[in-house]
Amino acid sequence: MLGSAVIDTLRADQCEIVATGRSVRGEAELPMDVQDWGSVRATFGEHEPDLVLHLAAETNVDLCEQEPDHAYACNAFGTENIVRACGEQGAVMVYVSTANVFDGEKREPYNEYDTPNSINVYGRSKHAGECIVERSLDRYFIFRAGWMVGGWEIDKKFVYTMVQLCREQNELRVVDDRFGSPTFTADFATHMMAIVNSGRFGLYHLANKGTASRWEIAREIVKGLGKGGEVDVVPISSAEFPLPAPRPRSEMMKNLKLQLLGLDEMPHWKDALRDYLEENKDRK
Ligand SMILES: NC(=O)c1ccc[n+]([C@@H]2O[C@H](COP(=O)([O-])OP(=O)(O)OC[C@H]3O[C@@H](n4cnc5c(N)ncnc54)[C@H](OP(=O)(O)O)[C@@H]3O)[C@@H](O)[C@H]2O)c1
Repeated sequence: MLGSAVIDTLRADQCEIVATGRSVRGEAELPMDVQDWGSVRATFGEHEPDLVLHLAAETNVDLCEQEPDHAYACNAFGTENIVRACGEQGAVMVYVSTANVFDGEKREPYNEYDTPNSINVYGRSKHAGECIVERSLDRYFIFRAGWMVGGWEIDKKFVYTMVQLCREQNELRVVDDRFGSPTFTADFATHMMAIVNSGRFGLYHLANKGTASRWEIAREIVKGLGKGGEVDVVPISSAEFPLPAPRPRSEMMKNLKLQLLGLDEMPHWKDALRDYLEENKDRK
């Protein structure tokens, strides 16, 4: 989901790109399993990257909970391999992380100086990846994203699911006790590259402005699709919708460091959502 938006941004910047994936499909032109050190080392040796954008992860939060060894193999050990290869090549590394590293108890949006304490395996394995990057490299960026949105039908997460349900049903039941910061992949990719190009290494939160509950986002989707009179969005509690992995009450984030640097130009999520729905309105 994020990889496609990042590649679009890099192409627009006329960068020479080598796109890898677990297999050759979508944008990925070369196979490289991040868990396979031999494959990582050979790929880095052949292409000698200056900048490595490490987006690969096991992002299925429930699968991570059910198969923790797999989660750590991909999200922590896989990251360790990329870190090692960046160290050997002298490449700058970008690691994309998540608001899931926090326990969700804070009432205000999390900033970069809050202490991670994830309540699920996905978040702990992503935080383990962060720690490996921070302690092994000097020239790195870590960008934490919120609830990612992008790619329309390749989005297996919340927004496209709601769009589909909206087209099929006249009532949506959506949790109103989980809060986060929507993060549109196109906005994330362009702002991430602007910060990378500034050369100011470190950890950043990078989400669209504003926070919302899942229910509020669903309501905006219904409105944006012009279905306000037809589809009811009914608030429910997350207790009515049990999932294998616990979700933090809050994944709300603020881009405090970017604000302090005068660089927080991420649009508000409502504006980004309106544009996203408008751009894609004729797609299935
Ligand atoms: N989605 C969100 O809401 C969210 C929020 C915050 C941060 N993030 C982070 O953002 C990054 C990008 O996530 P995304 O949303 O774009 O998720 P995604 O669509 O699931 O993309 C993850 C990619 O990683 C690949 N991958 C998985 N295991 C791999 C391995 N062992 N070797 C090589 N590639 C592997 C997957 O390939 P297959 O398709 O073959 O499995 C997939 O293409 C991740 O680091 C994620 O943790 C995501």
